[in-house]
Amino acid sequence: MRGFDEIETVGVVGAGTMGNGIAQVAATAGYDVLMRDIEQEYVEDGLAAIDDSLSRLVANDTITETEKADAQARLTGTTDLDRLAEADIVVEAAVEKMDIKRDIFTDLDDVVDEDVVLATNTSTLSITTIAAATARPEQVVGLHFMNPVPVMKGVEVVTGEKTADAVTDLAHEFAEALGKETWESDDKPGFVSNRILMPWINEGIRAFDEGVATKEDIDRGMKLGTNVPMGPLELADHIGLDICLDATETLHEELGDRYTPAYLLRRKVDAGDLGKKTGEGFYSYE
Ligand code: CAA
Repeated sequence: MRGFDEIETVGVVGAGTMGNGIAQVAATAGYDVLMRDIEQEYVEDGLAAIDDSLSRLVANDTITETEKADAQARLTGTTDLDRLAEADIVVEAAVEKMDIKRDIFTDLDDVVDEDVVLATNTSTLSITTIAAATARPEQVVGLHFMNPVPVMKGVEVVTGEKTADAVTDLAHEFAEALGKETWESDDKPGFVSNRILMPWINEGIRAFDEGVATKEDIDRGMKLGTNVPMGPLELADHIGLDICLDATETLHEELGDRYTPAYLLRRKVDAGDLGKKTGEGFYSYE
């Protein structure tokens, strides 16, 4: 297996919110980064989001203009999956659909050197099932970043049925090299983070739908009462209601009725109100 000290180039699959965030923190940490998406437009949107985020970090003196420019110089956007042959580790952050992830991992298995670790940013899907799409399941691991990636300190390392201990160790070390702190979860539905976060959000939505309080008071109550930075409804909007629904449906399928998605969550997603990214969710955004 290619060791942590041999990592120079990081491949990222997906230039969306999570993919571009991961590409950004890897480039800022000094790695060469290849960020790949299927359409040039998505690649450019990802690079623009990174530019915007790096500018915010310059504005609050977290990094300098020079560090921003250096990070961007280390970053290459591409639509060519074959370019990931140059990578010493790959982090996949495509959509949360098992079929798509398995196809990507089968393709990566062909393209990427056989000693390279393949990580997935999946938030709820089984690492073991994704790994089984490759001929190197012992080198597949979960590396679950939190949104917004450049700001959130934590990364969840998830071990599949066949993940080798050395690969788990590398995952922790690599996340730490990106300036993150880690915790570890077994490959059980939702891992630690979403197994607990998603029902909290889901219950917040139900409480709103059942008239327990206004949405503002539900969020305010949880923030003031439990010292979290965002209440369940604002956090749902921040994450994306479609993503919350997908995650809750996976938990429901795997763990049963206590995870049944709230009626209002499904209705909002059906209406196309997905939160901040569409301008409408539980709240309205400019
Ligand atoms: N890039 C760079 N900087 C950013 C940024 C980004 N994408 N987003 C926010 N920031 C910076 C801002 O510039 C700001 O800096 P200053 O305070 O120095 O000006 C700072 O972060 C705080 O941002 P804001 O003032 O805009 O707003 P805020 O105080 O409400 O913080 C937040 C925003 C960091 C998102 C905070 O509300 C928060 O931590 N919320 C909880 C987020 C959370 O729980 N994320 C995990 C979701 S679950 C998940 O991701 C897993 C999954 O599988 C679904």
